[in-house]
Amino acid sequence: MHNKVKYKSLFDLTGKNAIVTGGCGILGEHFCKALSEFGANVAVIDINEEKTSSLAEELQKTYDVKSIGVYCDVSDPESVKNMVAQVVDEFGGIDILHNNAASKSDDLDAFFAPFEEYSLDEWRKIMSVNIDGMFLVAQAVGKHMVDNSIQGSIIQTSSIYGLVASDKRIYEGSFYLDKQISNPAVYSASKASVVGLTRYLASYWGDKGIRVNALVPGGVESGQNDIFKEKYSARVPLGRMAQAQEMTGALVYLASDASSYVTGQCLVIDGGLTVW
Ligand SMILES: NC(=O)c1ccc[n+]([C@@H]2O[C@H](COP(=O)([O-])OP(=O)(O)OC[C@H]3O[C@@H](n4cnc5c(N)ncnc54)[C@H](O)[C@@H]3O)[C@@H](O)[C@H]2O)c1
Repeated sequence: MHNKVKYKSLFDLTGKNAIVTGGCGILGEHFCKALSEFGANVAVIDINEEKTSSLAEELQKTYDVKSIGVYCDVSDPESVKNMVAQVVDEFGGIDILHNNAASKSDDLDAFFAPFEEYSLDEWRKIMSVNIDGMFLVAQAVGKHMVDNSIQGSIIQTSSIYGLVASDKRIYEGSFYLDKQISNPAVYSASKASVVGLTRYLASYWGDKGIRVNALVPGGVESGQNDIFKEKYSARVPLGRMAQAQEMTGALVYLASDASSYVTGQCLVIDGGLTVW
């Protein structure tokens, strides 16, 4: 007699405790909701303190799970330490970490500046969130998992621009947030670092049963102008930008037992952009 495998239950996250950094962002909100709908208790982590609380309240009401909103600046070691202690205190432990926060910068002129004029200050500011922050949160949560023998899942958000270069021709005439946009080198460098950190940690914690994978989104439609949307879409085999919720299936897969034999991988959700 074969034991019957319940395939659907492989995706079930009931009773698991999850952290989502950057949980209030365009993708973050969907990530928090998706994990909750599959049964996880979710700690919404962000520098947007007001929204962490209101989203946590919405998750509790809508999905009947535990949820808390915690202010944390992921680039600040003390803030990260306090956040992890608070989540462990409230939930009792952490099984899933989605390392997802990234900085859009509070100075868009500096952020979108041409490479030749890019300031080291801006470079460091972005790196301090996009990769230092991931290091700090992975270190604190990973230590908690190791110390408590939790065979957890860590998912880190990279980007297609961590895998391939951006085609700068698509940025001519392209505006976002009323600014002429580009993909700055610091973003590509930080997102490539996420892939390196992911592979390193997958190997490093493999013997503890902790899995570490990268979720790699392509461009998500979120108010870019038509010129950008058209030029970007022309580069995509599926012929369009992504909708934010299209990233959530990959997260649930990587967070759950459905991916129990998957570690150190990049799951690319880009409509095929990186295939040619
Ligand atoms: N949206 C896209 O098209 C796209 C494409 C590829 C990759 N990504 C990646 O996906 C992730 C989510 O992107 P998004 O579109 O939701 O971005 P977003 O800017 O909407 O959200 C990022 C969130 O991180 C928070 N944050 C910023 N600095 C922080 C800090 N120091 N500490 C804690 N939180 C901080 C912000 O407040 C915000 O809520 C990011 O890692 C991003 O690089 C996005």
